[in-house]
Amino acid sequence: MLSDAARTEIRALMTRYPRPRSAVLPALYVAQRELGWLPNEVLAEVAALFDMEPTEVYAIAGFYNMLYKEPHGRFHIEVCTNVPCQLRGAEALADHLKERLGVDFGETTADGNFTLDHMECLGSCATAPMCFVRRTASNWGRYYENLTPERADAMLAELLAMDETAFVAPMERSPAGPYHHDHHPETNFLLARIDKPGSHTLASYLADGGYAAARKALGMDPAAVVEEVKRAGVRGRGGAGFPAGVKWGFLPKGVFPRYLVVNADESEPGTFKDRLIIEYDPHQLLEGIICTAWAIQAHHVFIYIRGEYMFGRLRLEQAIAEARAAGFLGKGIFGSDFDLEVIVHPGAGAYICGEETALLTSLEGNRGHPRLKPPFPAVAGLYGMPTIVNNVETISHVRHVVEHGADWYRQWGTERSPGFQLVCLSGEVNKPGVYEIPYGLSLRELIYDYAGGIVGDRPVKSIVPGGLSMPHLTADKLDTGLDFESIQAAGSLLGSGGVIVIAEGTSMVSVVRRTLGFYREESCGKCTPCREGTGWLEKTLIRIEEGHGVRSDLDRMARISKYIEQQSFCPFGPAAVWGLQSALRHFRSEFEAHILATNPEEEKPPVPVRPIYRPYVGVPVANVLDD
Ligand code: FES
Repeated sequence: MLSDAARTEIRALMTRYPRPRSAVLPALYVAQRELGWLPNEVLAEVAALFDMEPTEVYAIAGFYNMLYKEPHGRFHIEVCTNVPCQLRGAEALADHLKERLGVDFGETTADGNFTLDHMECLGSCATAPMCFVRRTASNWGRYYENLTPERADAMLAELLAMDETAFVAPMERSPAGPYHHDHHPETNFLLARIDKPGSHTLASYLADGGYAAARKALGMDPAAVVEEVKRAGVRGRGGAGFPAGVKWGFLPKGVFPRYLVVNADESEPGTFKDRLIIEYDPHQLLEGIICTAWAIQAHHVFIYIRGEYMFGRLRLEQAIAEARAAGFLGKGIFGSDFDLEVIVHPGAGAYICGEETALLTSLEGNRGHPRLKPPFPAVAGLYGMPTIVNNVETISHVRHVVEHGADWYRQWGTERSPGFQLVCLSGEVNKPGVYEIPYGLSLRELIYDYAGGIVGDRPVKSIVPGGLSMPHLTADKLDTGLDFESIQAAGSLLGSGGVIVIAEGTSMVSVVRRTLGFYREESCGKCTPCREGTGWLEKTLIRIEEGHGVRSDLDRMARISKYIEQQSFCPFGPAAVWGLQSALRHFRSEFEAHILATNPEEEKPPVPVRPIYRPYVGVPVANVLDD
């Protein structure tokens, strides 16, 4: 069923990687483009091309949301209903679309035009509520942002009017407008160029002095570059905050080849900063990559980019082609004897692939399951070889440290969190967006001085300071500095810099219910506590929200969450329950009041509760409340 052209394209993809199997995901995208979905016969053909067992390819295709195992409508509309979008009206938008189309999530309209789904965070939280729409025949998708019911209707009309030649490539900058704001006056480096016309082009980047840092790095001893980044104290921006230079120092001496993997899977809800760099200043990232690859002596770099960032992927491919034509990538870069290849590798819709070992497993052509650590990737990573995995923003900082030096960098921030950072502000603030600020600026300054305060002038109720995985902070922590140590001392973690603000009047029961829905859906299914436990918690929260909760549910959820936190295989487990645990700590009286107001007699809950949407494939979610 695969065309000859598709077979040729897949064979070419296989040659791009050190090991052909790494091309399985890109190959499945090619195959999906043939029919609009992936019947078993096509999966078997792909398996044969890779000399794999068909069951292996079925298992891979079944793992990733963006690979279709059944036919879809002409357009696949996915409404993000994750918490930052939820706080800005996503559930009402979803209800409107359901009514307009006459379908529920997971269904296709009778005329075959639209399949409707919900989706988890798409890196567009500042322009919420939003949809990601994919044209099934081309496999390309685009974002529709800042949607209202009227704009959603206009979107449907626009899609219906499209002919077969339209929508074959993703859009340019969102008409929703910019989603970054008023930089801190002293720290405007990473985002300094993104509003310039043509900021993504090599000509524009060179006109602003681009690639001087890469030339400088190549003139330095690699160990000296590592030392400078270590001295600058650049902390990892992907979530863990581990110092980048120290991580590079873990590479075993004399073991080659080494790989650099750039984590562009940005899928932590409330995080959308890497998207800006990728779409509007991709050469900044490439220059950081060159500096880093030289420092660690890696000749192969992989940028693992989340599947929905299609526009970003195109921008990166264009930038790589330009840099290669200029002699900045490829053989003997900048006239040196150093070769460097950069490959953009698309993910396919799996949050867990943001975890570095799961990302590597996915890049090797498997389901994105995490691995046990140690060994850490620096010792045994991609293909079992030493590998550095760094986030897009982290690598972009490297370019500035190389250009200006560690002392320049350390003039901002705090002793242990030096420099500046990109913070993604979302939720119930007047000006959500990406802000470039020094470490240590307080939450109050960010929310009130920069983001114009809270929608409707309501008081702050809760803040999640580092992406949805992190514990809630209460309003009395508003004067806490945004740096790793201060946020930790206040009772949470800075994580990926995704600050989600919740105002008084918003139901914590709803917020936590949606939080657990995300983790239940995104559990990779590898370990039982996480796979089953997140489903139990979500079901309990749905029941409480719908007026069938009892107060003993709260203790039961606390007990289950402790077990998930302590017994899961990877950091996903703790991340899944910190939001719930902190909400029960800070807002227990609100949960109790909701239970007593909606179920005053605390009657035994009905069984079964409303089924959850899209449970973990192939594994029934048990209901602990059935007994
Ligand atoms: Fe919807 Fe981030 S885009 S939560």
